[in-house]
Amino acid sequence: MKHVETTTRPSVDTPELPSVDVTLRVNGESYRLRFDSRVTLLDALRDHLGLTGAKKGCDQGACGACTVLVDGRRIVSCLALAAQYDDCEITTIEGLGDDDHPHPMQEAFARHDAFQCGYCTPGQIMSAVSLQAEGRAGTDEDIREFMSGNICRCGAYPNICAAIREVAGEGNDASL
Ligand code: FES
Ligand code: FES
Repeated sequence: MKHVETTTRPSVDTPELPSVDVTLRVNGESYRLRFDSRVTLLDALRDHLGLTGAKKGCDQGACGACTVLVDGRRIVSCLALAAQYDDCEITTIEGLGDDDHPHPMQEAFARHDAFQCGYCTPGQIMSAVSLQAEGRAGTDEDIREFMSGNICRCGAYPNICAAIREVAGEGNDASL
């Protein structure tokens, strides 16, 4: 288990809250952390663990850029308090695959040019992996409906949909 020293962000207008001890299991590694109980899972991942794949877009649950998997289910990590996820299994885009062994969904996104600026892409891919596990990638309509929480400012939706459809249609193993 890794012990990570963390600091609580100072706040000028809110009172100090008690620190909490949390074990986050992320991408197969365990981290023992202590931080302010108000720290979100997204901030814990990005600021405390240096895992910057999950992106902060809106920071209010509206864009999906911060999507990660918790025990195999997708959540928007900007709305989740890290302390709620003690000992849960968290997967971020960094844990999905790498350059040598990309996940089938990552390969499909690359093949279909399913991004432009790429800012939304980690969240799109995490959500797409979960979508398939949920059995909701049967039709284009389903894909659009159940990916509607992931916003793409560049409008890469047709290519995102094509990538997901390909993975689902070919029966590729898109599990973790
Ligand atoms: Fe979390 Fe937008 S940053 S939903
Ligand atoms: Fe730019 Fe989606 S690729 S926001």
